Amino acid sequence: MEILFKVTGRGTALLSEAQSGERVRLVGPLGRAFSDPPPGENAVIVAGGTGIASVYELAARLAPRTGVSVLLGARTRDALMGHEDFSKLGVRLQVATDDGSEGTTGLVTDLLDAAIDVSPKGRIYVCGPTAMMRRAAEIAGARGRPCVASLENTMACGFGVCLGCATPLREGGFALTCRDGPMFDATQIAWDKLA
Ligand code: FES
Repeated sequence: MEILFKVTGRGTALLSEAQSGERVRLVGPLGRAFSDPPPGENAVIVAGGTGIASVYELAARLAPRTGVSVLLGARTRDALMGHEDFSKLGVRLQVATDDGSEGTTGLVTDLLDAAIDVSPKGRIYVCGPTAMMRRAAEIAGARGRPCVASLENTMACGFGVCLGCATPLREGGFALTCRDGPMFDATQIAWDKLA
């Protein structure tokens, strides 16, 4: 088992100090995983920042299908995670960085329209910053492609008790990201109400 994480607070700081052989307790797996596209469809996977870690297994599983595209985005080349791992999968891989230090300069979502042109039967999978996922959902909607978003949210309990991970829904009300997600049909989400 491998865990890819970034130190952003006390918990991840403690994890970063763990020594080889030390016991670490964890709860999981939690929530719902990505489901594969139906037969005859392929995938366009879009990920940014730490969201890249969430889509690796999906990309590895779908890689044997033809026409799978992966678009990765980060602020800089140094912040780009897993580039080498993805390049070994044999998928169509494109990278965008804000400063142009790797791949094209700009936002990863700028690559999405062209990727849909190449994979018109692609189901869009997206994970990363909210603004990025929202934009990917808009593009997918405009192109008539289904879009699955893996929401990133601050989670305390992870199994539906603390209500700290509520996500607003377009039809009203909330879903719990940890229990009902983190995968959602992007059309379900009230993106304008997400911070
Ligand atoms: S993290 Fe506690 S309800 Fe989702």
